[in-house]
Amino acid sequence: MELYTPEVMIAEDEIVTRIEALGKAITKDFENEDLVVICVLKGAFVFCSDLIKRINLPLKLEFISLSSYGDSTNSSGNVRLEMDITANIEGKNVLIVEDIVDSGLTIKTLLEMLAIRRPKAVRLASLLFKPMNLKHKVHIDYLGFEIEDKFVIGYGLDYAGRYRELPYIGILNAGN
Ligand code: IMP
Repeated sequence: MELYTPEVMIAEDEIVTRIEALGKAITKDFENEDLVVICVLKGAFVFCSDLIKRINLPLKLEFISLSSYGDSTNSSGNVRLEMDITANIEGKNVLIVEDIVDSGLTIKTLLEMLAIRRPKAVRLASLLFKPMNLKHKVHIDYLGFEIEDKFVIGYGLDYAGRYRELPYIGILNAGN
């Protein structure tokens, strides 16, 4: 298989700098508090692993897996819980770490699922936000970058399961 090099939208060093700032803000906001970080698999795993290294707090890491896309660049309109967290979050501060908010459906559904479990507070960190497609109002507390309406890959984000390993955010071109 030929190696595909997509056009760079956000370079690796820009991501590193932004994550440092987000980590500092989260550390300040949750000073003297415990935190449960919920990494939304699979797309957020790279962002989350870099982000938690910049959060200077005693935290616990949990994983949840939701799927809203098949092998296409359009949302299926359904969100399925594929794997749940194992921790009890009742009375806890929770930070959801997501790769991208597009229509907002995934996060809206996740926030509803978690609210039933009565956490103390829930905040959202998302590496990317595509405002053009937003259908469900979502407040992103810690945002990496607002981007234009292009399908992006890399830094954890995939197209049909590929390109997650790219160290930057690239633009998927038709035909790849
Ligand atoms: P939403 O439910 O429409 O907000 O979509 C959120 C999910 O769709 C993300 O967690 C991603 O998995 C996926 N997604 C949306 N846009 C992109 C993209 O440009 N590249 C890769 N995945 C995307």
